[in-house]
Amino acid sequence: MATHQPRIGLLTGGGDCPGLNAVIRAVTQCLIRQCNAQVLGIQDGFAGLMESRTVPLSWDKVDDLLALGGTVLGTTNRLNPLDTPDGIPRALHNARALGLDALVAIGGDGTLTIAHALAQQGMAVVGVPKTIDNDIEGCERSFGFDTAVATVTDALERVHTTGQSHGRIMILETMGRHAGWIALEAGIAGAADIILLPEIDHDVAALAAVCREREARHNFTLICMGEGAKALDGCITYDTPAPGEAGKPRLGGAAMVLRDRLQPLVHSEIRATVLGHVQRGGSPTPFDRVLATRYGVHAANLVAQGDFGHMVTLRGGQLATVNLDRVAAKNRQIQLDDPLLLTARQLGVHFGETATAP
Ligand code: F6P
Repeated sequence: MATHQPRIGLLTGGGDCPGLNAVIRAVTQCLIRQCNAQVLGIQDGFAGLMESRTVPLSWDKVDDLLALGGTVLGTTNRLNPLDTPDGIPRALHNARALGLDALVAIGGDGTLTIAHALAQQGMAVVGVPKTIDNDIEGCERSFGFDTAVATVTDALERVHTTGQSHGRIMILETMGRHAGWIALEAGIAGAADIILLPEIDHDVAALAAVCREREARHNFTLICMGEGAKALDGCITYDTPAPGEAGKPRLGGAAMVLRDRLQPLVHSEIRATVLGHVQRGGSPTPFDRVLATRYGVHAANLVAQGDFGHMVTLRGGQLATVNLDRVAAKNRQIQLDDPLLLTARQLGVHFGETATAP
């Protein structure tokens, strides 16, 4: 009697990130090895499921993907099944029509929220956490973050040398939306004097006092700022007020807003740089290649065991799983007692807070 050959769908959703192709490779090769599965790549995230656009993935097709940036499956935030009443039924119908026994969804909060909705309707789903922002609830480290931190650190070192030569105040704006993980970790790695996070509203007068004090001693100040950071008396800065692909306005430009407010209060000239999508592109670091591979193999193992409704994750550095309902529609921000934040404080890094009387 012929045994059933499982058919597994695989998609990448939301913004791209270094390491996606490494997960695609690991999931595909592991599923082929473990259960002789047919792996069907779904193109452009959930848009591809809504429109039944797929591409078969073979061992050879994915073999060279480990170090390649971006995603060979494509990705988009368009056609979110949660945006229309018939979206989830249509996605389920198409999955059945494609003969999918299970779906592996690689993505951030948006993708994992859709995956959770499908799981609630009985679909066999496993999630894999992806984002350079490292802000997925229930996950201490998403792949792509390490690569982004390396890119920002390199950029900080570059603005450092030019800023120091000219005796300027340099502001570098990072991605991260409403979480400051990239700014915090790269800020420490790149020796920023001031780190501004979305989690801590900054006091422009206090920042000016720090810069002036540094003008006397060092004649140079390096500020690493998350794009979602805002002044106590200000608001979040948007690149365009119009909703982007994800249906939300895009952040960007906070560094210029700060420059314009700070400049009249200091002597040195200020230069602001928005690093932008450089942080999302390129080849993953060795750490992210390994993490993406670990996540991909773990996700394939869950599929092979028939263990669904979870996201793979890291807990205490070990592979683990977390139920998708703990992840859906949530974000992980930096807590004020975060050990890394406290480490930076002990080094004298300033977070833009109002000075308290001695
Ligand atoms: O979620 C990752 C992220 O890189 C954010 O940090 C950033 O604000 C956003 O995506 C930009 O996405 P896009 O330009 O693709 O809409």
